[in-house]
Amino acid sequence: MNGRNAGDDWWRHAVVYQIYPRSFADANGDGVGDIAGIRSKLPHLSALGVDAIWISPWYPSPMADAGYDVSDYRDIEPVFGTLAEADALIAEAHAAGIKVIIDIVPNHTSDQHALFQAALAAAPGSPERELYVFREGRGSDGELPPNDWQSNFGGPAWTRVPDGQWYLHLFAPAQPDVNWRHPAVRAEFEQTLRFWFDRGIDGFRIDVAHGLEKDWELPDLNGLAFPLADDAEHDHPHWDQPAVHEIFREWRAVADEYSPARAFCGEIWVGRPQRLAAYLRPDELHTAFNFDFLMAPWLPGQLRSVIDATIASHAAVGAPPTWVLGNHDVCRPVSRYARDQRLLKPMDRHLFDFQDLPADFDLGRRRARAAALLMLALPGGAYVYQGEELGLPEAEHIPAEALQDPTWVQSGGTDKGRDGCRVPLPWTSQGDSYGFSPDGSAAPWLPQPDDWAPLAADAQDGVPGSTLELYKAALQQRRELSALGDGTLEWLTSPAGTLAFARPAGADGARFQCWTNLGSAPVALPEGELLLASGELDADGSLPSDTTVWLRG
Ligand code: NOJ
Repeated sequence: MNGRNAGDDWWRHAVVYQIYPRSFADANGDGVGDIAGIRSKLPHLSALGVDAIWISPWYPSPMADAGYDVSDYRDIEPVFGTLAEADALIAEAHAAGIKVIIDIVPNHTSDQHALFQAALAAAPGSPERELYVFREGRGSDGELPPNDWQSNFGGPAWTRVPDGQWYLHLFAPAQPDVNWRHPAVRAEFEQTLRFWFDRGIDGFRIDVAHGLEKDWELPDLNGLAFPLADDAEHDHPHWDQPAVHEIFREWRAVADEYSPARAFCGEIWVGRPQRLAAYLRPDELHTAFNFDFLMAPWLPGQLRSVIDATIASHAAVGAPPTWVLGNHDVCRPVSRYARDQRLLKPMDRHLFDFQDLPADFDLGRRRARAAALLMLALPGGAYVYQGEELGLPEAEHIPAEALQDPTWVQSGGTDKGRDGCRVPLPWTSQGDSYGFSPDGSAAPWLPQPDDWAPLAADAQDGVPGSTLELYKAALQQRRELSALGDGTLEWLTSPAGTLAFARPAGADGARFQCWTNLGSAPVALPEGELLLASGELDADGSLPSDTTVWLRG
């Protein structure tokens, strides 16, 4: 176990690698990734040097939303394996010095969950229905939804059941929202937290953490947009309700009973740094994803603003910032950065919004490498989504008939959704599925592009200059240089178009600098020992466009 990981505050500086289990590695040949596949790739993760893995939902699920529709929170989906295999993975990861974080999905269950099935079987007004959000409809015969809330995937957020009542689902109809006002719901989830903590899990990533509480009057939105404006005097009726904080205080108290420290990371889309930081007060969540960083275009002014706002808002509550460039819900950074950054609208998240813009993927990869080094030098923790270490682009041309994301159907075929970042990983440049499944297996659950062979892990392993080797070197240095990880930064005076900062010297006395050139002309670098560069420097030693360097001095 490495020194950093041994500490009780590992979450303040950890590099967490996100595993999307359906797409990581398939050991049993059914075309869908599994726990045995994850176990077989632990050497890859050890060599990469990550501190922790976060595994997207692995629970029993009808897979209406790729596992974010959970039918039993205390077991393992048979497609992925068994509880015994999960225990073995936890033990093996720990032996390799890697913490294990799993997803918890508390806003909604699957419609196949026993509690929802019981609610459906029970009558309107019954105690069973109280655990979810059932209401009478509007209109003379209750034929209209109870209010105008919309599903995140498109269409109304309400579905009618045969007896005429409607139930709320902020996501797919197969994902009914639960009623967090009900003590039995709170007790149920607390039991789930303990079930996994007792099995040795080091933390939870909390799905839609800002959505659990609602304004239970269920008022119409009347076109109210979210995020709200900074000076908004009212709350949004179903996002970021103030009462949600009480839930996380209860959860924190549970986590704090355990040793070594267990940690939470919230998926919180609130768009306002102070509102995000409110979830990170000392008695609430430990960390949250910093989606403002992910959504910032590759433009120096906007990135600098996000970095400054993040550091200031997190410092105000004593929480470590985190940094993230991608996940299973958003376009991969290589393809995002391949577009003209001035044309991206602020809330563009899915590829569909900008795929018509011309793309230069070499440029996108160059920027993604520079962004990775920038991210890993910033104070706090960081997230790496599987495949980023290979420089994978978004798969932009999945045929409509192969799309699996419920967004596609619910949007009436206007939004392709998120499948392009969920394509199974290429492990070997040869083989039926680039080594995702054993040769001769069922086809991968999403088709892989036919030009991924050069991006496969085995084509990059040990190859100087490859993206995989860049990530390995960066993560190794992060462990060795005490200036990196948690702490502060000092901005340096640098030419227009660049971002340059120093990290105060750590215990080893070495001062560290990170320089990123987002401008169009090369810039001269200061004196100092070159530790790592995301691309080649110019012959005269200057820093070319779209390149980051780490320096000692
Ligand atoms: C956020 C998850 O990341 C996403 O994949 C899922 O569809 C929604 N929450 C609903 O659970």
